[in-house]
Amino acid sequence: MPTLAVIGTQWGDEGKGKVVDYLAGEADVVVRFQGGNNAGHSVKIGEELFKLHHLPSGILRPGKLAVIGNGVVIDPGVILKEIEDIQARGKGADNLRISDRAHVIMPYHKLLDGAEERLREGAKVGTTGRGIGPAYADKAARLGVRMGELVDEPLLRNRMDFLVPLKNKMLEALGSDQRVDGKKAFEDYAGYGRSLKPFITDTGSMISEALSKGRKVLFEGAQGTMLDIDHGTYPYVTSSSTISANAAAGAGIPPTAMGAIIGVVKAYTTRVGAGPLPTELHDETGERIAEKGGEFGTTTGRTRRCGWLDLAVLRYSHSLNGFTGLALTKVDVLGGLDEVKVCTHYTVDGKRLSSFPPDMRTLERVVPVYRSFDGWDDLEPARLEDFLNGGLARLPRSMRYYVGFLEKEIGVPVHLLGLGRRRSELLDLRRERW
Ligand code: IMP
Repeated sequence: MPTLAVIGTQWGDEGKGKVVDYLAGEADVVVRFQGGNNAGHSVKIGEELFKLHHLPSGILRPGKLAVIGNGVVIDPGVILKEIEDIQARGKGADNLRISDRAHVIMPYHKLLDGAEERLREGAKVGTTGRGIGPAYADKAARLGVRMGELVDEPLLRNRMDFLVPLKNKMLEALGSDQRVDGKKAFEDYAGYGRSLKPFITDTGSMISEALSKGRKVLFEGAQGTMLDIDHGTYPYVTSSSTISANAAAGAGIPPTAMGAIIGVVKAYTTRVGAGPLPTELHDETGERIAEKGGEFGTTTGRTRRCGWLDLAVLRYSHSLNGFTGLALTKVDVLGGLDEVKVCTHYTVDGKRLSSFPPDMRTLERVVPVYRSFDGWDDLEPARLEDFLNGGLARLPRSMRYYVGFLEKEIGVPVHLLGLGRRRSELLDLRRERW
């Protein structure tokens, strides 16, 4: 099948944006299928850094269709601003298509996100505050507004006349003193609808048609497997399904149309927001990794918590996603350390866990068991070209050993190796294309 899905294997921020942007060079269509502007992808092209939240990374590749599928929730004001930003920097958005079935993040969703978080004394999720959870909750409660309704003013007015007072009552009940001004909100949102109308269409049938013509479709996952609403570290998760199985449902095509699945693995682990992180480092090494890896959230600017790579997470992630290949990113960030560690498994009360724990009380108690590896020197910038052209053989021995160990333990080959921030600093180890 000419499709490829790129999925985060950990808690997001694995470097999917750059991997997608690289692979988009081979695709005709790039599709986002879940999440919203809680995602943040940094893509460096030459010396220019693009920070995208809503737009698929593929938007930066002229001639490719960039699609936002039905499974995404959209903040129309934010997406319009992103479109204007990339246009101001000389990149077009004519190739953007937005599903008429995607749900709209309404102004009350953002207020409710904050109000609910404030009430969760001692058990905060640490959301990005973008209204993602309340928007998905309304979708499931059949109280959502879809993009197809945003462009239909009479219908939109009807929906908002009912929804805004209802949500204001909820804000009051939650102890918030913020309210949505119904008149202003309608004017804003009707205006967004008019501006976005040219992009809104039935994207599912468009993707199916592209596939029937043999076009290559790339699915761009957001967040990561451990933030999946069903399989992640609930309740410290996002509100959508982030795993490969949802690529089909969130894009509106059958699962039988799915082909290759690349899992993006950062060479260490990070997490933003609350919740257990078994291999978290509370020492200088953790700080050094955060500093060197630039581990500050693209969306919220929060410093990410850092820890060693965790094979218990990666094996679980593979069991859910069925990866056909891995993209191992930020290997260069670990350069200069004398010792690099990997958690091989967890124990609880001295006993080895055979599967990933479903409840957070157990996950908080697990003891990670580590294996140590020799570190490798920083990759000299002057030799980077040599590393990239020479393949694995040119890389430091201890780094090769680390990569080989991961491949063996997870049981999936590494197809791409990230050695720097740029799109061109990915070492492509694939034997065949998709
Ligand atoms: P929400 O998606 O804003 O509701 O946030 C729920 C949880 O997911 C919080 O812990 C966020 O920090 C986390 N999260 C959401 N999006 C991302 C992402 O793109 N990268 C990393 N963490 C994320």
